[in-house]
Amino acid sequence: MNKKITVVGAGNVGTTTAQLIAEKNLADVVLIDIIEGVPQGKALDILEACPLWHSSSKVTGTNSYEDTASSDIVVITAGLPRKPGMSRDDLLMANAKIVSQVAKNIAPHSPEAIIIVVSNPMDAMAQVTMNVTGFPSSRVLGMGGVLDTARMRSFIAMEAKAHPKDVKALVMGGHGDLMVPVSRLTKVGDKAIGDVLSEETISQITERTKNGGAEIVAFLKTGSAYYAPAASTVEMIKNILGINDETLPCSVYLNGEYGISGVYAGVPVKLGSGGLEKVVELELTENETAALHKSAEAVRELMAKIES
Ligand code: NAI
Ligand code: 2OP
Repeated sequence: MNKKITVVGAGNVGTTTAQLIAEKNLADVVLIDIIEGVPQGKALDILEACPLWHSSSKVTGTNSYEDTASSDIVVITAGLPRKPGMSRDDLLMANAKIVSQVAKNIAPHSPEAIIIVVSNPMDAMAQVTMNVTGFPSSRVLGMGGVLDTARMRSFIAMEAKAHPKDVKALVMGGHGDLMVPVSRLTKVGDKAIGDVLSEETISQITERTKNGGAEIVAFLKTGSAYYAPAASTVEMIKNILGINDETLPCSVYLNGEYGISGVYAGVPVKLGSGGLEKVVELELTENETAALHKSAEAVRELMAKIES
């Protein structure tokens, strides 16, 4: 029997995620949204592509949480996206309300699900989801670091004229303006990035990575990125399903790892059938640790705003 993945939010990220899951034949997909007709129409459109992809995924659209029952994985993309000039944090209160509602509906229907939260500001929304569902933190994960790291790898590959697959990078911290691209650990093939690119270029890449979401928003004007975000979400799904076995930067609830407790932040992890299997603790420099703590504190401040 196929696994069942619910995608909440039939907008840009949700629909593209559903499409990739079906195209890669990873699972059956239920696409749910509050707008009547949209998830049904988009799901049917994706389903009709499945014969061409040689995929047996069953894709359905709905406005009823009963249809999401017994999902193995739930991806939450419901919420407002950014507009030009907005930071991810500007979405805080509106999306906290939407994500709380969604989490309240998901939990009783899929009590064993692993939830991947995409809605922004993502780290805080993951924490809201954990609080509302009461799920163990190992089953509530946030997607941000996979995307930020993919962006950094693309920029390095462009500058170094290398194949992106040969570029290793790591972006830690919250998926916000204070994210922490760890350029010291970045490699092109077996060479340290400092042996391939100048200090100035590395620093430009670091800034471009931090600004990666806003760069796309400035082009699109009416919404934010969705192809790379959907691909990043699917990468997490593949690791949960055991199709891939990689160390991925994901937002997880930290219990003392990296000296941080009681808040979601992006760190390298191993995922598996239980969700979070292990936080990978790398040795960071003092500056990197300070930047990671600052980024996690910013998430804590968002949580304080929500809870006040
Ligand atoms: P979108 O506007 O295209 O889609 C959002 C969908 O959510 C809409 O179809 C809307 O009807 C639906 N929705 C709103 N309230 C709902 C509710 N209560 N229940 C179910 N569905 C509901 O937005 P897009 O581009 O898909 O982005 C979705 C979210 O993901 C945004 O908050 C965006 O900032 C975030 N995002 C996060 C990324 C990350 O790396 N964590 C990357 C890209 C986007
Ligand atoms: C991004 O980084 C908006 O968080 C979204 O593209």
